[in-house]
Amino acid sequence: MELHVFKTAQDASQYAADMIIDLVKEKPNAILGLATGSTPELLYQNLMADYKKNHTSYKDVVTYNLDEYVGLAPEHEQSYRHFMNEHLFNGLDINMENTYVPNGLGIPEENAKKYDAILNLIGGADIQILGIGTNGHIAFNEPGVPFECTTHAVDLVPATIEANARFFDTIDDVPKRAVSMGIASILKAKKIILLAFGEAKAKAIQGMFEDEISSQMPATALRNHPNVVVLVDEAAASLLK
Ligand code: GLP
Repeated sequence: MELHVFKTAQDASQYAADMIIDLVKEKPNAILGLATGSTPELLYQNLMADYKKNHTSYKDVVTYNLDEYVGLAPEHEQSYRHFMNEHLFNGLDINMENTYVPNGLGIPEENAKKYDAILNLIGGADIQILGIGTNGHIAFNEPGVPFECTTHAVDLVPATIEANARFFDTIDDVPKRAVSMGIASILKAKKIILLAFGEAKAKAIQGMFEDEISSQMPATALRNHPNVVVLVDEAAASLLK
């Protein structure tokens, strides 16, 4: 894994944005794997700013997202589909029909199967963007989920529900389940860019680099991938040896 430590989250996010912009210019029908959460927000702002200024076109780009909460309709303000529309897609010329997010409504296990069928048709992403949970989860692959899993229905652990409660009125409103791409699906990407900012992520970043590779620390699976770039700020890097 390649590690870059930046002074600010904005510097790291601009670096990631430039990698995506270069890819899309070179390969207009690029496949992007995208993530939600507060971490990629600046990256997405930078992509929208570049689109406004330089008109980099996304009209032939295909995107797929990592995960979606079970029980939230696409229109729900906290659904990941809504997040992506608001924080990125509406600010680009992307064809919405080329943007995939797992369906949060209906039977999660069936939605997971359908999503895997779509991913198999699309093929692995040219670039996959990832954040990381404070417990080292990637997408919603919580500690203990086998690396071999493809898209599946997951039960969120209390730490994740608590971490994500800030987006909801009360903690009881946070969905308890999600449909998430598995580690095996994520590792199919040609290149992976993981972003992490702030002290709250320092332990997870340390674990990702220094723990033994095991599903107990899901992000260690990335050490099995040949092309991973980790972009962090100084606070997130603060516990690394
Ligand atoms: C959620 C998402 C992850 C994300 C994580 C961290 O659990 N499923 O994809 O990486 O949160 O979120 P944040 O970037 O808000 O810290």
